[in-house]
Amino acid sequence: MTTPTTRAECQQLDFGDPLAEFRAEFVLPDGVIYLDGNSLGALPRAAKERVRETVEDEWGQGLIRSWNTAGWFDKPAVLGDRLAPLIGAGPGEVVVCDSTSINLFKVVISALRMRPHRKVVVAESASFPTDLYVMAGATGLLDGYQRRLVGQDGQQLEDVLDDDVAVVVLNHVDYRTGHLHDMAEVTARVHEHGALVVWDLCHSVGALPVRVNECGVDFAVGCTYKYLNGGPGSPAFVFAASRHHDAIDQPLSGWHGHAAPFDFTIDYQPAPGIDRFRSGTPQLVSYAALEASLGIWERVDLDALRAKSQAMVSLFTDLVEQQCAGFGVEIVSPRGTGGSQVALRHADGYAVMCALIDRGVIGDFRAPDLMRFGFTPLYLQYVDVWDAVQALREVLATESWRHSRYASRATVT
Ligand SMILES: Cc1ncc(COP(=O)(O)O)c(C=O)c1O
Repeated sequence: MTTPTTRAECQQLDFGDPLAEFRAEFVLPDGVIYLDGNSLGALPRAAKERVRETVEDEWGQGLIRSWNTAGWFDKPAVLGDRLAPLIGAGPGEVVVCDSTSINLFKVVISALRMRPHRKVVVAESASFPTDLYVMAGATGLLDGYQRRLVGQDGQQLEDVLDDDVAVVVLNHVDYRTGHLHDMAEVTARVHEHGALVVWDLCHSVGALPVRVNECGVDFAVGCTYKYLNGGPGSPAFVFAASRHHDAIDQPLSGWHGHAAPFDFTIDYQPAPGIDRFRSGTPQLVSYAALEASLGIWERVDLDALRAKSQAMVSLFTDLVEQQCAGFGVEIVSPRGTGGSQVALRHADGYAVMCALIDRGVIGDFRAPDLMRFGFTPLYLQYVDVWDAVQALREVLATESWRHSRYASRATVT
C-alpha cells in the first residue's frame, strides 16, 4: 500500500475495508478517536444486552437454579472452546478463568513440577512486569531456583538457554514496543533444550492470528479485556497443550477444578483435561460480556484483521514520520511486522499524551517516555488514523502539552 497523502484517500481505504461492518457493533463515544483498545477494548453493543439478561433474568429470576439452567458452571470451558480458534488451540485446550497474573502463577508452578530436576526459569527483562513478579512469587515458594533474564546485560535467548532451564516465559508481543516474537522458531529453540515454554498472549490475541498448536506451544495465558473487548476486569484464559493435561498439577487446586466438585470429598482429585486449571467460582457477570464479544469474534476473518492492522500501523507510522518531524518524536515500533500498536518516544510523552486525550484522541503512556497507540481493526477507520496524526501534530506544533495541568501524573497512565 502506498501511504495516503490526503484524508480523502484514507476514506477510499475505508470504503474498501472488508471489516468495516463491525464498527457499528461497538459503542464509540462521539468526538473520540480511541487508540487504546490494546489496554481496554471498546464496549460491544451486544454485551450490554447479554449482561442485562444475565443480571435480570439469570440472576434476578433464575437465582441459584441458573447454575444448571443457564449453564453457569460450564461457562469457563464453553467460553474456552469459543476462544480457542483465536489462538490456534483445539477444543478442550483452553479454559477461561481468573486473571492473567493468577493463571501465570498456576502455569509456572505446573511447568516447574513437570521439570523437577531443573532449577532455572527464564523471562525477559522487557516483559510486562506482572510476569516477572509472579515468577518471583512462584519460585520464592520453592527452594534453589535461579532466574535468568533475556535482555539483561545484552543477553539473548541462546545465551541463557541450557539443560538446567525448566521453563521460559515470553511475551508474544512486547507491551511497550510491539515487537513480535517468532513463536514457532522460539518455541522450537526452547524445546531443543528440553524446557517448557509459556507464552503471554495479552497483546497478540485478537490483534493477529496466533497458532499455538502449529508452533508446538506448551502453555499460554492471556487476557480478554484488550483486543477481545471482554470489558474491564473480564476473565483471562489458560491454554495447555492436550499432551500435557494428565501431567498438570496446578497449585491453586480449588473446588471448581475438582473432578467431582459436588461430591464434596476431603481430598483433591483434579478434573480431567483443561478444567483442572479452574480454581473457584467464576465471575459470571463478566463472563456474560465476554460471551457477547466472542459472538463477534466468531465472524472475524483473522487474516483480514492482520492485514488491516498492519496497514493501519504502517499508515500511522508513515504519517507521524512525515507530519510530526522536528518535534522530538521518535518511532520505536516495527512498521507493520510487530503487534497492532505503535510506541512513540518523546521526552515529555506523558504531557503530550494528556494534551492529545483532551483533543479527543485516546492513547496511553508507559514510563519513562513512551506514548502508546493501539490499532483495533474491528472498530477503527483509516480516517481515524489520519485525524489522530493531525491532532498529534497540532499538540506538538502549538506546544499545548506544556500547560501546567499536564504536569502531574494520574494514578493510571
Ligand atoms: C503482557 C501482559 N501480561 C499480563 C498483564 C496483566 O494481567 P492481569 O492484570 O489481567 O493479571 C498485562 C496487562 O496489561 C499485560 O500487558
